[in-house]
Amino acid sequence: METTFIKDGIYWIGVHDYTTYLFEGCWPIKHEGVNYNAYLINDEKVILIDTVKEFMAEEYIENIKSIIGDKKVDYLVVNHMEPDHSSSMAAVVNEWPDVKIIGNQKTFPMIQNFYDISKNFLCIENGEKLDLGGRELQFFLTPMVHWPESMVTLDVQTGTLFSMDIFGSYKATVGSIFDDENEVETFLEPTYRYYATIVGKVTEMAKKSLNDLAPLVPAIKMICPSHGLVWRKDPGYILNLYIKLANAEVDEGVVIAYGTMYGNTRASAEIIADELRKCGVRTIKFFDVSKTNISYILADIWRYQGVFLGAPSYYGRILPTMENLLYKLEGNKLRNHVCGFFTDFSWSGGANREFDKFIKATGCYCPGEMVNVKGAPNKEDEEALRAMARSVAQKLK
Ligand code: FEO
Repeated sequence: METTFIKDGIYWIGVHDYTTYLFEGCWPIKHEGVNYNAYLINDEKVILIDTVKEFMAEEYIENIKSIIGDKKVDYLVVNHMEPDHSSSMAAVVNEWPDVKIIGNQKTFPMIQNFYDISKNFLCIENGEKLDLGGRELQFFLTPMVHWPESMVTLDVQTGTLFSMDIFGSYKATVGSIFDDENEVETFLEPTYRYYATIVGKVTEMAKKSLNDLAPLVPAIKMICPSHGLVWRKDPGYILNLYIKLANAEVDEGVVIAYGTMYGNTRASAEIIADELRKCGVRTIKFFDVSKTNISYILADIWRYQGVFLGAPSYYGRILPTMENLLYKLEGNKLRNHVCGFFTDFSWSGGANREFDKFIKATGCYCPGEMVNVKGAPNKEDEEALRAMARSVAQKLK
């Protein structure tokens, strides 16, 4: 793999992962891949910013050596301990045993737990600056974005923010890591999907971290996240997008996510879609929860204002594939959404009770009544579904 010179002694030494099928064992990345971006500052001292997933450690170490030759690595900054960025740490220590590992007080117990490494730690505080051979780095803690020990690092000289997961996305970069050499719009959906799956649950903490980092913005000339593009031309694009994501600002459009066993709940979903079209809604995302990995549904729910969820009852509860979506959605919450719910049942119901629990837990806004269809939707059911669709459509911006 080629490394990439960025500027003023800074290099990209990351890798592209097209091998992993499910990121975190949950989220599909098999088609578009993902970057584990890691960086090297080659100055009076050699400083690494993060590592890569362990199965690509050999490539990562080769990348480093191709730049520094016989020099040694002096420092490894550990911005984040999730193993997609930290699990080649042992390879670094093995190659350069004197390397000093920079982290915060939450980082080091994790290093011991994951990698049984317990020496050469250099502990920094929030906002602290370190002069590393004339190169000044400043560190800012961003707890719970995405783990408790998470932090970002500013290279003061160049205004480069090494932001770990923050400002990241799915989708490996092809041919170039830079925003100005890519079609930035193609990273929009992967950014939504990344945010909804990885950061959504801790979005309040993300909002806080972005607020805390706001005074730095004038000094930031470039953003180097751990996933996705390097933002050297227009860091404001990803900054503003993340502010929008963290504030759960929604776009015009509706997501209909349904589960179905024999097509009756889908028939209800289609009636809702038909009525929404009649109400002038143009963006409708239509998902079968049993055929679509929930990451794609979560991404569009994060993005669009209207949400309809429908599922049949299943042994007194709800179709398991919808239950899976509800579990993750309950964490993400439905902050600025307008919602509708519909179920199908044969004898005693159950999906309606699960949706009721979900509505109570999330406090989501439902202007219409839930529609519970017994068997196939009849004329009366159809009218109730259309009325619910209209009540949501009227509240959309
Ligand atoms: Fe990309 Fe939370 O690690």
